[in-house]
Amino acid sequence: MIIGVPKEVKTDEYRVAITPAGVRELTSAGHIVHIEQGAGEGSSIPDAEYVRTGAKILPDVDEVWAGADMVLKVKEPVQEEYHRLSLRSDQILFTYLHLAASRECTQALVAAGNVAIAYETVRLPDNSLPLLTPMSEVAGRMAPIVASHHLMRPGGGRGSLVCGVPGVEAAKVVILGAGVAGMAAATLAVGLHANVYILDKNLERLRQVDHHFRGALETVASSTHAIEVHCVDADIVIGAVLVVGAKAPKLVSDDLVAQMRAGSVLVDISVDQGGCFESTRPTTHSEPTFGVGRSVFYCVANMPGAVPHSSTHALANATLPYTLELANLGWQEAVRQDAPLAEGVNVVHGAITCAPVAEAHTMAYTPLGS
Ligand SMILES: NC(=O)c1ccc[n+]([C@@H]2O[C@H](COP(=O)([O-])OP(=O)(O)OC[C@H]3O[C@@H](n4cnc5c(N)ncnc54)[C@H](O)[C@@H]3O)[C@@H](O)[C@H]2O)c1
Repeated sequence: MIIGVPKEVKTDEYRVAITPAGVRELTSAGHIVHIEQGAGEGSSIPDAEYVRTGAKILPDVDEVWAGADMVLKVKEPVQEEYHRLSLRSDQILFTYLHLAASRECTQALVAAGNVAIAYETVRLPDNSLPLLTPMSEVAGRMAPIVASHHLMRPGGGRGSLVCGVPGVEAAKVVILGAGVAGMAAATLAVGLHANVYILDKNLERLRQVDHHFRGALETVASSTHAIEVHCVDADIVIGAVLVVGAKAPKLVSDDLVAQMRAGSVLVDISVDQGGCFESTRPTTHSEPTFGVGRSVFYCVANMPGAVPHSSTHALANATLPYTLELANLGWQEAVRQDAPLAEGVNVVHGAITCAPVAEAHTMAYTPLGS
């Protein structure tokens, strides 16, 4: 199979869909990999590294699309790419699509007639989303780092060192949600020697967390009361809750923020689901924070975008096994053998095969294989 990897064109997107290691796996399996010139630059992967593991660099993006049996991307196609979707009806597009959020992109794919497989709807039997997990891990690990920076005086915070110093206490870090992002945040916060409290509604989850950290942090059953008690004297609060398919619950009110320490820092990782603090609004890496009362809010909706090199490798590590299956078997046999991958198939030759996408746009739904 010929696999084409174009450079991402969406604003502020610096990731790329494949690493040199992925190229090597694909070429070793007998496939051909075409990469658009400079596609890896934003992730600090020079063309020469791709060439070294067997890729061919093409200067013309149209050539990358037109020659490919499968196009690998990171973000959903944007308008300037729509005309390329219909170049070949037998072409597979494997990328994040988030079609429920975009009627325009859904219509473009329906009109194109290709086969569109979305990273974010690949789902394992335990309901986890293996191609979303790496980005939650990146955002979760970043949260205590950015919070520690903003807790310092030049960052707008109260001027505390997160780890304390001998004779001076470490910062109190409260993490709301003990899922993928929350656990990643806890790992870093414990590593930074902060006093860490993690809250979740799911007691079984808290048991696992308690067992994992063996006393290095406190687990707390989440309730309105527990959130108030623990946030009021926190230096850092990290929001990492998710209710699948719903907007994030508002767990930290402005009233509560008003009672918190001056210069405390609140990082809302859940901002992409509406946020779990009352005054959350999405921010960008160029202007990541704003003030609420006497506290600092950090609500960047695309946290992994700040570390494209790490994010690219984390994402590609997760997508590569599926990419190899699609390349080795063709999409029909691959999804027949791999039920989680079948859940990723969103549009096939003009038919929407993902029920939530069809529902979101009141468009016709065609079950896969019918
Ligand atoms: N801002 C970014 O750049 C970025 C990047 C990646 C992920 N995210 C977002 O981070 C959020 C968390 O993702 P995840 O992968 O960790 O989800 P997850 O499903 O693994 O974990 C969510 C946790 O929240 C808990 N929870 C739900 N309601 C709660 C409540 N009221 N109180 C306490 N805990 C509660 C759940 O029990 C679960 O353990 C999602 O909204 C995701 O989209 C944001």
